[in-house]
Amino acid sequence: MKEKLLEKIANKEIIVGVVGLGYVGLPLAVEKAKAGFKTIGFDVQEEKVNLVNKGINYIGDVVDSDLKELVDKNMLEATTDFSKIKNVDFIAICVPTPLDMHQEPDISYVESSAISISKYLSKDTMVVLESTTYPGTTEELIKPILEKGSNLKCGKDFYLGFSPERVDPGNLYYKTKNTPKVVGAIGKDATEVIAKMYRSVLGAEIYEVSSPAVAEMEKILENTYRNINIGLINELAMLCNKMKISLWEVVDAAKTKPYGFQAFYPGPGLGGHCIPLDPYYLDWKAREYGFHTSLIQASGIINDRMPEYCCERAEKVLNDLKIPMNGAKILVLGVAYKNDIDDYRESPALRVIECLQEDKAEVDFYDSYIPEYKYKGKVHKGIAKIDEKIIASYDLIFITCAHTNIDYEMISKNAKAIFDTRNAMKNIKNRKNIELL
Ligand SMILES: NC(=O)c1ccc[n+]([C@@H]2O[C@H](COP(=O)([O-])OP(=O)(O)OC[C@H]3O[C@@H](n4cnc5c(N)ncnc54)[C@H](O)[C@@H]3O)[C@@H](O)[C@H]2O)c1
Repeated sequence: MKEKLLEKIANKEIIVGVVGLGYVGLPLAVEKAKAGFKTIGFDVQEEKVNLVNKGINYIGDVVDSDLKELVDKNMLEATTDFSKIKNVDFIAICVPTPLDMHQEPDISYVESSAISISKYLSKDTMVVLESTTYPGTTEELIKPILEKGSNLKCGKDFYLGFSPERVDPGNLYYKTKNTPKVVGAIGKDATEVIAKMYRSVLGAEIYEVSSPAVAEMEKILENTYRNINIGLINELAMLCNKMKISLWEVVDAAKTKPYGFQAFYPGPGLGGHCIPLDPYYLDWKAREYGFHTSLIQASGIINDRMPEYCCERAEKVLNDLKIPMNGAKILVLGVAYKNDIDDYRESPALRVIECLQEDKAEVDFYDSYIPEYKYKGKVHKGIAKIDEKIIASYDLIFITCAHTNIDYEMISKNAKAIFDTRNAMKNIKNRKNIELL
């Protein structure tokens, strides 16, 4: 199997299947197809499949013309029909790994995609899980599902591995193509062949590790590192506010140290599909070993409280203006979880808006990337634009996301008061109406 697959890779005869065409899967499918491998994308959402087949892009990190060209050239197609799995030689699984309502891993998407694949898995295929998950998922969950459903033997009839996705949506320099990738598969041959496949597609270092569990843990380490450091900085932001010290100035000073310090900044809470969720996959798994990941818990307590804390700070700003929160007109600026993207999954801004509304404020939002969002089953529509008059009509402008296409100078000149949780107004000289987190 090894020689056959290596030859097929070298001759670009591998047919690629990407399961899950979201923020991770679509850019990956495009890169594989651009590298000369015929690629089939699989998704359960028919609308995404139809868009891909029409050459219409819906993911910010994908270049519209790349997608169109690949579809026109028949290098990329999408389908909801999993029987086409039988035609592919390499399968990357990029489905969601959220938490359930009790903050426990919801592995059902990974499980159901593995079941769908197992029914059509053929001999001499490589299967790679890319979804972020707890260490052990590939060997303990996916392997038995694939073996049982296909009657094939892992290592003998097909290769199985884990290679975490590191895409950073909105990052202008690091994209799927040039971000180093870690690969850990079951067995040396599997690792070698899967790594070779990635090397033939990506222009970045492919780093091999000894097992899928190491690769799974590596990804969780990356995201837990961020989660905990953000927790530390958010806690210090609350302390610095009491001590009347600007933490932003402190961090800027600390980062002049050329080694041993990485800058993290406070904010209204964690957002996105990764940093707030992934550490809990590890926390959950650790309990199986009678182990408690106390730093993850502590960081979660701080970060989860940030939206409420920010609302309390906003209330103080209004109090100084003798405006009660009850009935105050507040414009929340930015509902994306970070700047310059249209993704609001787990965005702390949604909880901020909810908190302000619980305190009976009249809240609108504006986001230059997100005209409306759905939260707890309800659709919330934003205002269509902002200008001098609109900004002046609010008691408070509450900045929850620092999109770079916003005219912060105009906002500073017209707002009664601004509560800035992202230091979006850092270049504004006149600070008299600005309160910084
Ligand atoms: N978004 C990021 O920035 C990012 C970065 C690194 C890693 N990840 C990880 O990558 C994984 C995917 O994240 P995403 O942001 O691309 O999610 P997403 O929600 O954007 O996309 C997932 C896609 O999978 C599809 N899907 C769900 N169940 C399926 C099934 N059974 N068969 C086929 N398709 C199915 C969904 O319809 C959706 O289109 C997650 O584990 C996430 O933690 C995400």
